[in-house]
Amino acid sequence: MSDAKNISLEEKFQEKIDSDIQIEPKDWMPERYRKTLIRQISQHAHSEIVGMLPEGNWITRAPSLRRKVALLAKVQDEAGHGLYLYGAAETLGASRDSMIRDLHSGKAKYSSIFNYPTLTWADIGAIGWLVDGAAIMNQVPLCSCSYGPYARAMVRVCKEESFHQRQGFEIMMTLCNGTPEQKAMAQDALNRWWWPSLMMFGPNDAESSHSAQSMAWKIKRFSNDELRQRFVDMSVPQAKILGITIPDPDIKWNEERGEHDFGEIDWEEFWNVVKGNGPCNKERIKTRVKAYDAGKWVRDAAVVYSEKRRKRKEQNLSKSA
Ligand code: 3HC
Repeated sequence: MSDAKNISLEEKFQEKIDSDIQIEPKDWMPERYRKTLIRQISQHAHSEIVGMLPEGNWITRAPSLRRKVALLAKVQDEAGHGLYLYGAAETLGASRDSMIRDLHSGKAKYSSIFNYPTLTWADIGAIGWLVDGAAIMNQVPLCSCSYGPYARAMVRVCKEESFHQRQGFEIMMTLCNGTPEQKAMAQDALNRWWWPSLMMFGPNDAESSHSAQSMAWKIKRFSNDELRQRFVDMSVPQAKILGITIPDPDIKWNEERGEHDFGEIDWEEFWNVVKGNGPCNKERIKTRVKAYDAGKWVRDAAVVYSEKRRKRKEQNLSKSA
């Protein structure tokens, strides 16, 4: 296609984005737009699937049947979120096998937060409250992302995330109103999950390699720092209600700016975990590869079944012709 033609296609595409017309799978789109969507959506899907592991660790240890049922439902929801998102990435031409291969080989990323261990039951509360709270903060704007299938997947995901966040906060509330040991367990969980939750929003805007372009394409509606700030401003009063202390001595209300000041994130820790050197990175991928290999017979059976169905359909068609 000639350059002139390509430029006008690109201009028409950007006009659609600027007028908030959603892009659908069959629409023309710049290759770079398609590629960055596959990158972000597939890594989002990986995060959902790997995110099942830290919480899955507590399904058999939940303190009551009620807690077990809620945690089971949450972990199953995360699996469903992963499947929606792999499906959204496939509408862009990505293959499920190649996305899974990239996860297993370490080529693709998933959210750093899932590389931390869940040491006590309070961690399940802190994950629901903070991790799903951060995920909601980041995912609600994605409901108006310029790519239709991603935006529609997010609407369903966000409805379920709000249940996740609420059940987590309720676990923390129960512990904080419990015995001193239970409250101490909740404080310990907040101490360990607070900073990794802030890291979920990605590097500072100045260091973010994709933000500017993703915002010009309305994939991202707000910057990493804007969403992080909103998350801090939302969480500080919640911690006050719980009666536990956010592990950041620099957190304080800034009247002038109308938001909280907070301390510097340990970016060395962030990049270290992203690069695969977090407490649980190796274990998480090993578990994912083992589960994938163990599920091979299901995938093979599904292929044989669909092949049989296709052949039977063809025979019926030729009989009726
Ligand atoms: N963990 C791992 N990698 C991260 C990261 C994190 N917390 N934050 C950023 N990165 C990576 C980016 O993927 C990018 O690397 P890449 O080029 O190899 O993909 C690099 O760091 C630079 O970051 P940018 O800010 O430039 O990248 P993005 O513009 O893609 O922004 C993002 C990062 C904000 C995570 C964005 O990708 C996004 O909004 N993704 C969709 C939401 C998502 O994936 N959330 C993850 C959690 S899902 C979850 O919590 C499920 C819930 O049910 C519990």
